[in-house]
Amino acid sequence: MILLDGKIAASAIKEKLKTQITQATEKAGRPPHLAAILVGNDGASETYVASKIKNCALTGIKSSLVRLADTVPEYELIEAIKKLNADDHVDGILVQLPLPAHIKEENIISVIAPHKDVDGFHPVNAGKLMLDQKGFIPATPLGIMLLLQHYHIETSGKHAVVIGRSNIVGRPMSVLLSRNNNPGNCTVTLTHSRTKNLPDICRQADIIVAALGKPGFLTSQMVKAGAVIIDVGITRVKDETKLSGYSLKGDVDFASVSQTAGYITPVPGGVGLMTIAALLTNTYEAFLNNTHQ
Ligand code: GUN
Repeated sequence: MILLDGKIAASAIKEKLKTQITQATEKAGRPPHLAAILVGNDGASETYVASKIKNCALTGIKSSLVRLADTVPEYELIEAIKKLNADDHVDGILVQLPLPAHIKEENIISVIAPHKDVDGFHPVNAGKLMLDQKGFIPATPLGIMLLLQHYHIETSGKHAVVIGRSNIVGRPMSVLLSRNNNPGNCTVTLTHSRTKNLPDICRQADIIVAALGKPGFLTSQMVKAGAVIIDVGITRVKDETKLSGYSLKGDVDFASVSQTAGYITPVPGGVGLMTIAALLTNTYEAFLNNTHQ
């Protein structure tokens, strides 16, 4: 079994980005700028945003954080986004999800200017992905593609099974893997909670992307020998042995599946780190476009 180490792949991407950003910053007379909006103080979201900001600093990207209370009216959040849309010195905008129940995600995402939508969630970018046009690709599926590329995983003609059909991961992942590209050219089965015979389908897979949010769901009985296993799950599970009181669990039962798989991502240290590397990549692209480089 070979470990698909997100730390190694993400470090390589970030090192390269850092050099490119130094040069592009000199040309533009300013660094790239990512603005993040965090509504409320959900623990996991706080951690993710803090990590995004830290990694921006490491690669030479300026970041700013707009914090809003979890009681903020929808129109105020929309106003905050419009202000960032109008600011020529802001290249990328992200609104950390999930949002409080009284705010409709769809209403918020559609306000972000598509050319600053570095999360790739806006309908224009989602549509471009569907049509194989250049646009922003959501960071988690893009990060997984970069990981497959880093480890030279052969994907052409392979059967990929994606578990989970979310707008953020499963659905765009299925499109990316089926594209006529490298990585890509997979035959993709997109599965979900109503799929029948999921274990049988998984056993036929050369590549499995588990993105359903159920800790330890994928077991070795569901995996063909030598398969490539990508674990997107990152659930906080109570753990009294940890100082924080929890540990992070993936959707894959790593102990058993790592005995059968050919390649596997760890949690933590796998897809999560690649998501951040992909977000930085998207922000750099937005900056290049915005500064006409
Ligand atoms: N919440 C979970 N994943 C993501 C992501 O990739 N971007 C944003 N903005 N929120 C998220």
